[in-house]
Amino acid sequence: MNPPVALITGASSGIGEAAAKVFARRGYRVALAARRRERLEALAEEIRLAGGEALVVPTDVSDHQAVERMVQSTLDAWGQIDVLVNNAGFGRLRWLENLRPVEDIEAQVRVNVLGVMWAARAVLPHMTERRSGVILNVSSVAGWVAAPGYSVYAATKFALRGFTEALRREVAVFNVHVLGFYPGPVATEFGQHIGTKRKTAAPAWMTLTSERTAEIIYRMVARRRRSVIVPWWFHPVLWFNSHLPALSDWIQTRFYTRPLRLR
Ligand SMILES: NC(=O)c1ccc[n+]([C@@H]2O[C@H](COP(=O)([O-])OP(=O)(O)OC[C@H]3O[C@@H](n4cnc5c(N)ncnc54)[C@H](OP(=O)(O)O)[C@@H]3O)[C@@H](O)[C@H]2O)c1
Repeated sequence: MNPPVALITGASSGIGEAAAKVFARRGYRVALAARRRERLEALAEEIRLAGGEALVVPTDVSDHQAVERMVQSTLDAWGQIDVLVNNAGFGRLRWLENLRPVEDIEAQVRVNVLGVMWAARAVLPHMTERRSGVILNVSSVAGWVAAPGYSVYAATKFALRGFTEALRREVAVFNVHVLGFYPGPVATEFGQHIGTKRKTAAPAWMTLTSERTAEIIYRMVARRRRSVIVPWWFHPVLWFNSHLPALSDWIQTRFYTRPLRLR
């Protein structure tokens, strides 16, 4: 029996990098995708030194042909993909009118939404034919609760939730499992790419480590957990947001938007 294969996008840092290490430790061969080749090479080397198998597939997921090549190169090298972790993504924290149409708005949609759809579409013929596979999409709690300043990011993560739910029902008959992961703040390089100097970061007690997050991803895949929101205390936040929407609007406007926009 060949060891299973996990293809992980956004593996050059943060959650994706940590997930690659966890899957490799648990006996998976890992295909590492992202744009920064040197980071992927270094990670692959680390995994190999620890006795694992890793393949570097430099990919810009905002390019659909590159995404198809990513899947094909993995299949050419190892003949199978058991797990696709659609993790590549980024956000910009800015008022909508200050986001640039292409570099900020279109790019977020391309990476966070289209890249995920293209990758899932590319692996599905293989998974449905084998009657086996897991696709895990990394959305965010921003896919449930939309915060001011993250309008486009939230739109992409809401979109991912809809895509994940529909696709799950579309391919379940082939024994292909589509899982949605909705983490809160995780300590990664995410904050370095938001395009704004944040005055305050989430406090440490609210923040997950990428290692812990990667373990949760692994467990979700192992147990085919359809949907996971972490940390646990986001459940009451989500409940509050959906059951008391006017109060939620008021709190966010009063304590977040107003002091920043109307000084
Ligand atoms: N950190 C958080 O608080 C948090 C919370 C909820 C959800 N998330 C989600 O978790 C996922 C991973 O983010 P992270 O926190 O680990 O941030 P990160 O450390 O900045 O990692 C982002 C990864 O995405 C890759 N990526 C970005 N654009 C890409 C592109 N065009 N093509 C291919 N890869 C691309 C980056 O690689 P390259 O730059 O090398 O291409 C990098 O490996 C994202 O989807 C994010 O939305 C994060």
